[in-house]
Amino acid sequence: MHGLLRHLERVGFEGAPRVLGVDAQGREVLSWVDGEAPGRPLPQYAVTEEALRGVALLLRRYHEAVASYEAPVDAPWDAQASALDGAPELVGHCDVTPENVVFRGGVPVGLIDFDLARPTTRMYDVVTTMRHWAPIADPGDRDWRLGGVDVAERLRVFCDVYGLDREGRREVLPAARVRFERSYEAMRLRAEQVGGAWARLWSGGAGARIRRAQDWLERNWDELDARLA
Ligand SMILES: Nc1ncnc2c1ncn2[C@@H]1O[C@H](COP(=O)(O)OP(=O)(O)OP(=O)(O)O)[C@@H](O)[C@H]1O
Ligand SMILES: [Mg+2]
Repeated sequence: MHGLLRHLERVGFEGAPRVLGVDAQGREVLSWVDGEAPGRPLPQYAVTEEALRGVALLLRRYHEAVASYEAPVDAPWDAQASALDGAPELVGHCDVTPENVVFRGGVPVGLIDFDLARPTTRMYDVVTTMRHWAPIADPGDRDWRLGGVDVAERLRVFCDVYGLDREGRREVLPAARVRFERSYEAMRLRAEQVGGAWARLWSGGAGARIRRAQDWLERNWDELDARLA
């Protein structure tokens, strides 16, 4: 992860913390990304179209910056998860939730929390980000300010700003379908094998939320598909 963050610094990507080293107590120290990361319930500034566009652009810029990073061959990525996405294209952030994006003046300026970064495909990172930001979720599970939003429109806006072509857009929903199934399995395994925060997430209903999101996606597939195209 330090290698990844150092690469981002080297290529001049401003939207990530810098590695400052290790302190006397052996703790890793990263720079503070000035601004604020939205908490829950989401503040108004985090649900605007400007925020959505900003996140899509930030993810695109991150992908451009990280594409030239060559991770050490023995880097200890989460093998369980990486084995599932097909041939890796880059090291994705893989966890672009609202809590992991820093805003300044309503504009997303930084990504934090690279704990889940690993080799994956651009599409996997795009779909994971959309899951949180469109969001691809059952309306009853969304943050209240996102309960009634036009998800198809927000997916389209995200694709436009990120720069997905016609072919890429056609891959979005199938990739989301695969991703849900995989993240259900990955979270279940992490809850079982790692425990801690993962086990708390799982017992707090994370698996059931994924199942409801899958149902919502399947129920709305035709409309989303037509409008994405
Ligand atoms: N480098 C940073 N710059 C600015 N804010 C940060 C930075 N690191 C962490 N934060 C703040 O702390 C919060 C939690 O940090 P982070 O996302 O790295 O941890 P986490 O793994 O999500 O922690 P937890 O699982 O305990 O919630 C962020 O949502 C953000 O508000
Ligand atoms: Mg976080």
